Amino acid sequence: MSKTKVGIINVTGYAGVELARLLSKHPSVELVSVTGRSAAGQPLKKIFPHLANIDLTIQPELGKVDLAFSAMPHKESAKEIIPLVSQGIKIVDISSDFRLKDINAYPTWYSFNHPAPEMLEKAVFGLPELHRNEIIAAQLVANPGCYPTGAILALAPAVKAGLIKPDIIVDSKSGVSGAGRTLSLTTHYSEVNDDVGAYAIDGHRHLPEITQELGLLNTEFKPEVTFVPHLIPMTRGILTTGYASLYQGKLSSGTKGREELRELYIDFYKNEPYVRVMEAPPHTKHTWGSNFCHIFPTVDIRTNRLIVISAIDNLVKGAAGQAVQNMNVMLGLPETTGIDMPAMFP
Ligand SMILES: NC(=O)c1ccc[n+]([C@@H]2O[C@H](COP(=O)([O-])OP(=O)(O)OC[C@H]3O[C@@H](n4cnc5c(N)ncnc54)[C@H](OP(=O)(O)O)[C@@H]3O)[C@@H](O)[C@H]2O)c1
Repeated sequence: MSKTKVGIINVTGYAGVELARLLSKHPSVELVSVTGRSAAGQPLKKIFPHLANIDLTIQPELGKVDLAFSAMPHKESAKEIIPLVSQGIKIVDISSDFRLKDINAYPTWYSFNHPAPEMLEKAVFGLPELHRNEIIAAQLVANPGCYPTGAILALAPAVKAGLIKPDIIVDSKSGVSGAGRTLSLTTHYSEVNDDVGAYAIDGHRHLPEITQELGLLNTEFKPEVTFVPHLIPMTRGILTTGYASLYQGKLSSGTKGREELRELYIDFYKNEPYVRVMEAPPHTKHTWGSNFCHIFPTVDIRTNRLIVISAIDNLVKGAAGQAVQNMNVMLGLPETTGIDMPAMFP
């Protein structure tokens, strides 16, 4: 049987190059085309020596493919995708251009008017744990943001079960690759190393995504999310801690309530290949290079508050790995095909 031909738009960024690594070993698809502005005309393996197993030249334009991944910056991604959608090509967009259902959110959060509202309506938010049945039938899948992946997976079971009040705090710490490969002062080694700082306190662009998806889980629930991201001196990984007050009486008091919460999370994710409910707080290093999200839910008994901690690799479950997971679902392949690797440790 001939393999599905796939391509990557913008292989020269971190999300794009991580996709190339994963797709090069995928048994059911063939990576046939990669694009990149700065390195067009050059062999991929020359620009990225760790991909010596891939014999492709970086092109200025995408070649003929059945399915394309876009790893372009926001706003630019939609421009690339719109003509491909009208050609009937399946798309997984790693940018934010098709994630938000509210068209007005784009000028507010991304400073542009969305160029294709009709495509926005049809696009499916690509978190397989919540939207698998829609992804199966989708032509255009909007891969979730890295922070939203960790935050939504951490909070979804508690929201769905009506356990928590809508006033939610999400505190996340990200490695520097989350900011991408484009040079900037804030990601210089000497500025990031030995340092930790919060940013975007007035509202990070991933906030509306988290709010949108938590709000869809429970019609009674109108989430009010405070999201504070932090940059920390590591290459990959996001550790997220969610806090919310529990409604009285939904869980037993004391340690019995903790056990009930854990059972609820285990049940919610019992069929999910990439979510593990842990017995202890997770570490980003336990997910490095893998498509897993590790989650530890517990109750702060003193304050009757949910504390839930998640860890992901921002470039895998937070970007390229989840994009391949979505592609597998779209193509009717076993969902773990090509991304079933354990994490690297230490
Ligand atoms: N990094 C993550 O953890 C992560 C996670 C989830 C989603 N994402 C999303 O994935 C997309 C790519 O992110 P990234 O982190 O991989 O970014 P990145 O490493 O900064 O890559 C961006 C690359 O895009 C190219 N580029 C920049 N402006 C462009 C333009 N106007 N037109 C064409 N190409 C342009 C540049 O490559 P050339 O100079 O070669 O053109 C640049 O190296 C973004 O939409 C981002 O939001 C990233």
